[in-house]
Amino acid sequence: MTKPHPRSLVGKTAVVTAAGQGIGRAVAERLRDDGAEVFASDLNADLLSDLDGVDKRGLDATDGDAVAAYFEAFERIDILVHGVGYVHQGTIEDCSPEDWRRSFDITMDSAYYVLKAAIPHMKGSGGSIMTIASVASSIKGYPKRAAYGAAKGGVIGLTKAMAADYLPFKVRCNAVCPGTVDSPSLRGRMAELSEQLGSLEAAEKYFLDRQPSGRLGIPEDIAAICSFLASDDASFITGQCVQVDGGITI
Ligand SMILES: NC(=O)c1ccc[n+]([C@@H]2O[C@H](COP(=O)([O-])OP(=O)(O)OC[C@H]3O[C@@H](n4cnc5c(N)ncnc54)[C@H](O)[C@@H]3O)[C@@H](O)[C@H]2O)c1
Repeated sequence: MTKPHPRSLVGKTAVVTAAGQGIGRAVAERLRDDGAEVFASDLNADLLSDLDGVDKRGLDATDGDAVAAYFEAFERIDILVHGVGYVHQGTIEDCSPEDWRRSFDITMDSAYYVLKAAIPHMKGSGGSIMTIASVASSIKGYPKRAAYGAAKGGVIGLTKAMAADYLPFKVRCNAVCPGTVDSPSLRGRMAELSEQLGSLEAAEKYFLDRQPSGRLGIPEDIAAICSFLASDDASFITGQCVQVDGGITI
């Protein structure tokens, strides 16, 4: 019998949140294609309807009780990718208390609920947790990203603390930090910005100019690193911010 390649995810159980579109969707598809049994969830269950070959559930990751009930059913989880996040565009002066709360509910509270509910099923598994954070965080200050940067910095802090707490239990925790990735929500932010800048072309240029690589990232760029971090090839990597940003943080 031939030994499986260490990058193969065959036999591993993977849970992916925010799998309906964008980065989470590409991650779910990549882990599935690499052989994992994938459990995909999203707030909007309709977005999952054409995602084949995975278990699909509607799940609001900001609802602590619903998250706890969802995870209770798992016997063992090897891979967790938590992709839920929300971008408020604005400075601290633009950010109302409601904007601030919404940013933290969706980005940070969801991470608290999901990682807390998943970890009892991962201890001892040799498993891998990945949070989708951002370079707009504790890594780099961006204009008009006050609440977003604060919340994603929190996600990085939580991920690193869990890396320390759960290393003895053989669970690795890494924050994946994308640059600007072409996703449905980025297209929404471009449309919003185009009202200020006068045209969609100007808004697209604004985001492209942030990318030294001269191209936007694609969700598959992020899925590829998640596949690697999920695999046994990455067994010596934990507590890291893995920047996949097309040269932003050179
Ligand atoms: N696109 C980028 O440029 C970029 C850059 C850095 C980091 N990120 C982060 O990557 C993650 C995915 O972003 P994206 O732009 O690919 O996706 P997106 O914003 O286009 O899609 C996000 C998905 O999350 C789901 N979702 C929203 N709230 C939810 C909730 N409460 N519970 C469960 N699901 C929920 C949505 O229904 C949607 O399917 C986010 O955390 C985002 O902050 C994105």
